[in-house]
Amino acid sequence: MSGRRVNVGIIGGGLMGREIAAALRRWPALVDHPADPQLVAVCDINPAALEWFAGIDTVRLTTTDHHELLADPDIDVVYIAVRHDLHEQLYVDTIRAGKALLAEKPFGIDGAAADAILRAIDETPGSFVRVSSEMPYFPGAQWAVDYVRSGALGRIVEARCAFLHASDRDTAKPLNWKRQQRFCGEAGVLNDLGMHTWHVPLRLGWMPETVSGVLQDIVTERPGPDGTPQPCDTWDNAVLHSWATHDGARFPLTTETKRIAPGEKNTWEFEAIGMEGAVRFSTKNPKEVQVFALIDVPGVGREQSWQRIDAGSQSVWPTVTGPNFESGFSDAILQMWAAFLAEHQGLLGDGFGTVRPEEAAATHRIFAAAIASHQSGAAVAPRG
Ligand SMILES: NC(=O)c1ccc[n+]([C@@H]2O[C@H](COP(=O)([O-])OP(=O)(O)OC[C@H]3O[C@@H](n4cnc5c(N)ncnc54)[C@H](O)[C@@H]3O)[C@@H](O)[C@H]2O)c1
Repeated sequence: MSGRRVNVGIIGGGLMGREIAAALRRWPALVDHPADPQLVAVCDINPAALEWFAGIDTVRLTTTDHHELLADPDIDVVYIAVRHDLHEQLYVDTIRAGKALLAEKPFGIDGAAADAILRAIDETPGSFVRVSSEMPYFPGAQWAVDYVRSGALGRIVEARCAFLHASDRDTAKPLNWKRQQRFCGEAGVLNDLGMHTWHVPLRLGWMPETVSGVLQDIVTERPGPDGTPQPCDTWDNAVLHSWATHDGARFPLTTETKRIAPGEKNTWEFEAIGMEGAVRFSTKNPKEVQVFALIDVPGVGREQSWQRIDAGSQSVWPTVTGPNFESGFSDAILQMWAAFLAEHQGLLGDGFGTVRPEEAAATHRIFAAAIASHQSGAAVAPRG
């Protein structure tokens, strides 16, 4: 099967823009995908950032003005990876230009920006918008989601999702836009990494009733462009304790979103513990899924057992990769794009889709509740 040609434009040719360009070059790894994406245009206000894309022979337009990219009638889908304070304007322009959009997190710098993007979606017939969140596309993460959906947990006891970094432990790391409220947003690390901790819980229907936020600004100054210390005014770490409901039972749901978790590089973890079963997955050991069960031990009887299972390579969309091989970050990015473009064509079926706009907007309500809770010391219900 050869897929329908989909012309892709990227706005923001930084860290993530380059990652996506590379992922699209691995498209032949997907088996019988209904889309055949080709990167044709890239926009970045910094001409130096565009130079890297000269090595990709399908790119026929590079520009420093996103209006020029959006005016190109042959571009079907746009991926945008820019500073959070620029999301609202660029996303709204893209939606109103009639392009399908894979938007980067946090989907606007705050709840008001997310609502403005939702309005543009509502007012644009045929719009298709999803938000980037790749970690659930690790095969082990998909197993964990499927395990929870199977009903094997029995009555749920508790669940946790975490996303852990540690490069900010280095206090000499220069200040950048992600460490300043005016560019990153008041929610700080939650804007930066919180979509990673909430995509799976929200998709499982675990919208919290109340949130208790414990937030930390650990490094308050960082070297500016000339080396002198400048204010670094974003939250570094955020632990949110909340109450959610699964199959009619309330349970404590904890998310941990941290830039300073010593020892961690890009660790995404999920665990759900029930009375009958439980499941754990961490990208720290990306092959392994742990499953709890009661088993019959020969000569002993019925016992509790945590079992370790290798997940292999297959995730949402089948690939030519041998099923026993390992999966990594770039595979997760490819799978996220496979899910996004299959859903764009109405052919994802019940496969696990990328973040929906209303889920992204819900994260801003959760983050605002966490900040209010941190300030007041009381649990706060997300509003709106
Ligand atoms: N999904 C993920 O795992 C992941 C990882 C990192 C960052 N992100 C998100 O991606 C987005 C960008 O982060 P990044 O790390 O790629 O940032 P970055 O700073 O590396 O790149 C941003 C790029 O946007 C360009 N830019 C700025 N204004 C522009 C404009 N008006 N038009 C076109 N280009 C413009 C900059 O010159 C820069 O090259 C953020 O929303 C961030 O939260 C997602």
